Parts: sequence; C-alpha cells; structure tokens
Amino acid sequence: MLPLSTLLVALPLVLATTAPKRGLCHVPSDDHPTDDTIWTAAPNSPLTWYYNYKSEPSQAYASDHSLQFIPMLWGASATDTGTPFLDSVRAQRAAGRNISHVLGFNEPDGWHSVGGSDMPPALAASVWRAQLEPLRVDDGIKVGAPAVMGSPDGFIWLEQWFSECKGGCNPDFIPVHFYGDFEALANHIGQIMGTYPGLDVWVTEWAYPRKDLETTKGFFNTSTEWFDRMENITRYSYFGAFRSDVSNVGPNAAMLTEQGKLTDIGSWYLGGAATNNAPKEGGAGRAARFSGWALVVIGMGMWVWL
Ligand SMILES: *[C@@H]1O[C@H](CO)[C@@H](O)[C@H](O)[C@H]1NC(C)=O
Ligand SMILES: *[C@@H]1O[C@H](CO)[C@@H](O)[C@H](O)[C@H]1NC(C)=O
Ligand SMILES: *[C@@H]1O[C@H](CO)[C@@H](O)[C@H](O)[C@H]1NC(C)=O
Repeated sequence: MLPLSTLLVALPLVLATTAPKRGLCHVPSDDHPTDDTIWTAAPNSPLTWYYNYKSEPSQAYASDHSLQFIPMLWGASATDTGTPFLDSVRAQRAAGRNISHVLGFNEPDGWHSVGGSDMPPALAASVWRAQLEPLRVDDGIKVGAPAVMGSPDGFIWLEQWFSECKGGCNPDFIPVHFYGDFEALANHIGQIMGTYPGLDVWVTEWAYPRKDLETTKGFFNTSTEWFDRMENITRYSYFGAFRSDVSNVGPNAAMLTEQGKLTDIGSWYLGGAATNNAPKEGGAGRAARFSGWALVVIGMGMWVWL
C-alpha cells in the first residue's frame, strides 16, 4: 500500500472538466417506483450514465435516453448455455441504443449470500472469453474487468482470473468497489493503478457506511472532488440511490430520506444545493421486509471485510 501522501504527490491531478464521469448505480425501487424518476429530473444534473447490474435498461429509463445505459453481465453459473449477454448487447445496438461500454461480473469473489456472483476464476475466464472479449474485438465496445470486492482477496481473485484467461481477457478499464474512509479508498485505488497501469479506473460502488451524517457528507465531498481531479478515474457511481430506511450501508450514506426526498448528498450528487432533509433509519423489521433483489445482493459483500 502506498501512503496517501505519496499517492497525492505521485498521481497527476487534473482540474475538473466537463468530462462525463458521474453516473448512477441504479437500484430500481419495487416499493416506490416513482423514486426512479428522481435521478433524471434534476435540472442541472451532471449524471451522464447508469448501470443496474443487468444486461437490459431499467424499466423507468427504457425510452429515456438522457442517461447512457451501461449493460452488465452480473454473473454466470457453470450450467448456463449460449451467449445471452452478448446476444442482448448486440440486439440493443442493432436497435439503435448507443452501447459504448459494458461491465463484467459483480463481485465474483463474493458468495451469493453476501451479494457476490460467486464465480471461480476459471469459470469467469471461460464466460468472459465467450461473451465479453468478442464484444471488444468484434464490436469495438470497451469492456470493464470483473468488479471484485475492495479487499485483499479481490486482488488474488483478479490475478487468478487473468492467469486462467491465458491472455484471452483484455479489459479496457477496471471497476472498483470500496467501502471505507477516504484514505483507505485512495490507497486502494492507488494500489489498483499500480497493479494495472494501463487501465482506467471506474469506481462503480463506493460509500462510507454507517458513520454520522457530518462524517458521511465530508467523505462524500472529498471523494467526489478527488475522482473529478484524477485523470485516470474516468467514471464513478455512488452507492446510495435508495431510501435511508432500506439502506444496507447505513441511513446516512443514502441519497434519499425514508420519505423519498433527496438528502444533502443526494442533491449534491445531482448538482443541486443542500436540502437539509436528514435521512432516518427504518423501524424494526422495515429493512428486513425489503424485497428488491439488488439491495439484498449488492454491496453487502463488503460487510464481511470491514
Ligand atoms: C455513444 O456514447 C459514447 C460514450 O458516452 C460517446 O462518446 C459517443 O459520442 C456516443 N455516440 C453517439 C452516436 O451518441
Ligand atoms: C494514466 O493513464 C495513462 C494512459 O494509459 C498512463 O500513461 C499513465 O501512466 C496513467 N497514470 C497513472 C497515474 O496511472
Ligand atoms: C460539501 O460540498 C457542498 C457543495 O457541493 C458544500 O455546500 C458543503 O458545505 C460541503 N459539505 C461538507 C461537509 O464538506
């Protein structure tokens, strides 16, 4: 690990530009479908893209092209057949959708029970060669490496995966998931950049879970400002597009209150002013009843490592 001071000196900092970095990690709301429209309604929103852990667009944005959709091949099992993801991406393109990038597996180093896609590196290598590498080679689509958890084991999984690929997996960029404080985040990304120097970094899930509101806001500001300045961090999406009462990263990290109003963080993320809407925790049993698959399976993986 590089100390933070070294990192800040060693890495080039470039002034924020209008580069379209900021996106939405979209967790469609089953309980409150109208929440889905909040993310595209802000007048001066800097958001340019979204992903939803799936190969096809979210229902709410199927005919709304204000955010570019980035498909993801979430995971696969050894018994799957055919190339459904590849076929879907090609069909969407043929239908006129601008698909310039796709994302690889979600936390393949994590068990299903904690939200990972739980793929052995050898399986992930063969699925990649069949469904993702051809999109890069034949269709000119930029492909993101598997998004491992922000733990030391993630690096081991990635190394094993590259080795199993035998040169047949050539991602253009590397997605990062991280839950922790800013110094740990910056160190982690510095380590990724040092390990994979040719690859741009996309921070596709990050938050500082279960901290007090002021700490959470300070972290949010510091990290987004840093991402905006780092030239090789080319896209980022905050893990918080849901209500505070169903948040599995603590209420204060969420971008919506328990009533579906933008919090300060939510409003800042969309380019607006502070709202002074304070997020509240759910009552007992509220979070447990939440039925959206995405919140259950996503992000949780980090908890075993914190
Ligand atoms: C497609 O998306 C990419 C990446 O956002 C962008 O650079 C490109 O201009 C878009 N192409 C069209 C035809 O809109
Ligand atoms: C940023 O990316 C460019 C182009 O790939 C590369 O030359 C440079 O070394 C990278 N910088 C860092 C700090 O990794
Ligand atoms: C965060 O940034 C916003 C502007 O985007 C600013 O108004 C606010 O005071 C900052 N808050 C903290 C805690 O740094």
